[in-house]
Amino acid sequence: MFETLTKAPQDKIFALMAEIAADDRPGKIDLGVGVYKDDEGDTPVMSAVKKAEERMLATARTKTYIGVAGNKAFCNAMVDLALAGAAPADRVRAVQAPGGTGALWIVLTLLKRARPDATVWISDPSWPNHKPMAEQAGFRVEAYPYFDPATRSVRFEQMLAKLDTLGPDDIVLLHGCCHNPTGANLTPAQWDEVVASLSRTGAFPLVDLAYQGFGDGLEEDAYGARAVARAIPEFVLATSCSKNFGIYRERAGCAIVAGKNATAADIANSQMLNIVRGAYSQPPDHGAEIVRTILEDKELRAEWQAELEAMRQRMVANRQALADAIRARSNSSDFDFVAEHRGMFSLLGLGVETVNELKAQNAVYMLDDSRINIAGLADERIQRLADAIVGATR
Ligand code: LMR
Repeated sequence: MFETLTKAPQDKIFALMAEIAADDRPGKIDLGVGVYKDDEGDTPVMSAVKKAEERMLATARTKTYIGVAGNKAFCNAMVDLALAGAAPADRVRAVQAPGGTGALWIVLTLLKRARPDATVWISDPSWPNHKPMAEQAGFRVEAYPYFDPATRSVRFEQMLAKLDTLGPDDIVLLHGCCHNPTGANLTPAQWDEVVASLSRTGAFPLVDLAYQGFGDGLEEDAYGARAVARAIPEFVLATSCSKNFGIYRERAGCAIVAGKNATAADIANSQMLNIVRGAYSQPPDHGAEIVRTILEDKELRAEWQAELEAMRQRMVANRQALADAIRARSNSSDFDFVAEHRGMFSLLGLGVETVNELKAQNAVYMLDDSRINIAGLADERIQRLADAIVGATR
């Protein structure tokens, strides 16, 4: 049977995780996978999550099936968190998904059924899993200009010029906030221009919102998704609870679709249910129930928001501290952009030789395109990282 196959490529993020785990040098610096870490380098369970789990344990009466759409109250709360009424409820449908990646898979499969010959456009560069996922769904994948390595910011004019050439057979995958891997994000005014372009051309928006609350704030980070929802009658949105609730391994996310009217939305929803039932039948409940418990309870929700905001501010502070430390050592503003970027990641713009040198000489691990995860950089690690980067780029 399997002699017909060749070895599949390994995902580079998970390959790097294994490489880091195998390195027993003390003081190694892990800037790889997109997981939030505190000053000790740990990824603790959020206090609101712990409390929600305690309540669940005390009150749970059954473990019977939840249904193909998953936890409906969770889905409603997730739609509200992302869209806050930006699209009329009668045109919006949602199903619970196994994580943000699961949500992406559901909406890509739905779009393939709806428009099999479409091309999916992803940003250049994009999250390493976007292209393989869209290809696995059967789409042709192209890239639109996004990041300018010279300025380390968005090449907005080129991006818009490309989007203006697209049409109804094109699906545009947009990072809702906290662009992965670059850290360079669209401003609200730029989102408005992107939305106007999509309205003009009829190209279809797929918004990936995996980091709501990690960039400029919970509401601010939803600007793009809400601008799309207000102006464009049909769109899909994939959201994740992995990062902002810190429940990575629980795999909770939500696949959201808006149709032109309630009938179209019902049809799209029935297709999503059919996709889920034919793949894994129903999603697991635990992560979604944690999120529902938190979002529906005033006190737990306030506690979660405060914890999330503290995480966000720590990442902003880490960015400033790293930019300052590099500037102090190099006497140059070359890495000041790190403080301007938002979210968990920044693309440093180092060549792969430098990335490998940092790994070999300093036990500093980042993705081969020089994406770093800014969380988990306690002060002592920031100083050592700045030494290593300045040493390797001199
Ligand atoms: C990342 O980009 O590191 C995270 O989103 C984790 C993942 O699944 O790739």
